Amino acid sequence: MPKADLVVVANRLPVDRIEDERGEPAWRRSPGGLVTALEQVMKTVDGAWVGWAGKAGLTVEPFEFDGTQLVPVSLDEEELESYYEGFSNGTIWPLYHDVIATPVYKRSWWDSYVRVNRRFAEAAAEAVGEGGVVWVQDYQLQLVPQMLRELRPDVTIGYFHHIPFPAYGLYSQLPWRRQVLEGLLGADVIGFQRVADAGNFQRSIRRVLKFTTKSDSITIPQPDGTSRTAVAKAYPISIDAHSFIELAKDPAIRDRAREIREQLGSPSKVLLGVDRLDYTKGIRHRLKAFGELLVDGKVKVGDVTLVQVASPSRPGVEAYQDLRDEIELTVGRINGDYDTINHTAIRYLHQGFPREEMVALYLAADVMLVTALRDGMNLVAKEYVAVHTDNRGVLMLSEFAGAADELGSALLVNPHDIDGMKDTIMRAIEMPESEQSRRMRSMRRRVLENDVERWGQKFLADVEAFRAARTRRGED
Ligand code: G6P
Repeated sequence: MPKADLVVVANRLPVDRIEDERGEPAWRRSPGGLVTALEQVMKTVDGAWVGWAGKAGLTVEPFEFDGTQLVPVSLDEEELESYYEGFSNGTIWPLYHDVIATPVYKRSWWDSYVRVNRRFAEAAAEAVGEGGVVWVQDYQLQLVPQMLRELRPDVTIGYFHHIPFPAYGLYSQLPWRRQVLEGLLGADVIGFQRVADAGNFQRSIRRVLKFTTKSDSITIPQPDGTSRTAVAKAYPISIDAHSFIELAKDPAIRDRAREIREQLGSPSKVLLGVDRLDYTKGIRHRLKAFGELLVDGKVKVGDVTLVQVASPSRPGVEAYQDLRDEIELTVGRINGDYDTINHTAIRYLHQGFPREEMVALYLAADVMLVTALRDGMNLVAKEYVAVHTDNRGVLMLSEFAGAADELGSALLVNPHDIDGMKDTIMRAIEMPESEQSRRMRSMRRRVLENDVERWGQKFLADVEAFRAARTRRGED
């Protein structure tokens, strides 16, 4: 396999394994935002992508897909449970989302996390060319930067953290808090979603490792008495706004949006929630607020409908199974009490949909509810804004989602404050078009200016500065 100049390392490959028409296994590009984001970058360089093929026990040789080398890392059943469902999604995920669910600290999970991170680091070390760049993605792979630095000191390393980084008071619970920080500090550039996340990370560095930080940079003492510098700062991720706008212009998708409203019984207002079924998303809080508005008689079935898409996620993790039961019980109760033969209070869909259908849903919705209790960014908020080219529609956005830093013209809410949420839902439903338009215009400007291409360019430009400095030092 040829060596790559840029290697992305992520828990998942950018493709999903499917069966083609003849029932043969095949690969299809995954719909995720990161994949779209990096698609362009990877096409312009000799790129490789190291990641898990998404199925336990599946071992696949490296292969080329759409001009990019894909390097599958295999995980067996036990590793799926201990590294992915366990340490990544039972320890780090809840801890980093402000312990909304209780993190579980298990030494065997940690051991597996170390082992699997080493496998990813080795695969990246193998794939990257002399003096190349490796860009590591997200919380499943926090140890990879340091492991890779030891294997390949010639390589420049970036790491982007897609989820929040918690305050020190919470982070310090982690029994392996030192090792994780050391792992991350193997990178030259460490990117976060919010300025606050970068600040939390730097504080943990000062408290645990006693290193000095100044503005964005961290001074890391080296064994030989010298020191090196790493940069830790915010690079808020975004969406490929233009591809969403293109879809929003498509007559077939616009027709579908109209059809959705009709099929819902033509309510005067459609409210929409779109989330992975995850306890961080505040789906229960949203349902509670909406349910109480029905009880209070402030909204009437037939007049207002809530569409809630909750795409299946991490079904092997207990907290997700419990959440699903709770949500489905709540939806069932509300609908049981308020539905009529021809109208529903909540149209609940535990399904994932292709991007075209998502855009039609966004277009059909008068109000988008993003009520996360904690969220790294929340791209759904940005997608909803991007497609509303007519400046209609209202975004209700949790102040605990990273997107709130940029989308200050949304109706910002604290999802824990149920009365506040109820008032804000009513305000959204009743908002005059002139106000909708003023708010939407300013949000759209932000999303269009700062799209995902800009995000990638900014991050990689900072990485390139390190690479250039390394080259200069090599020439001395
Ligand atoms: C979040 C994480 C990603 C992850 C995605 C889906 O957005 O930041 O790293 O890939 O959720 O979760 P899954 O566990 O299915 O990969």
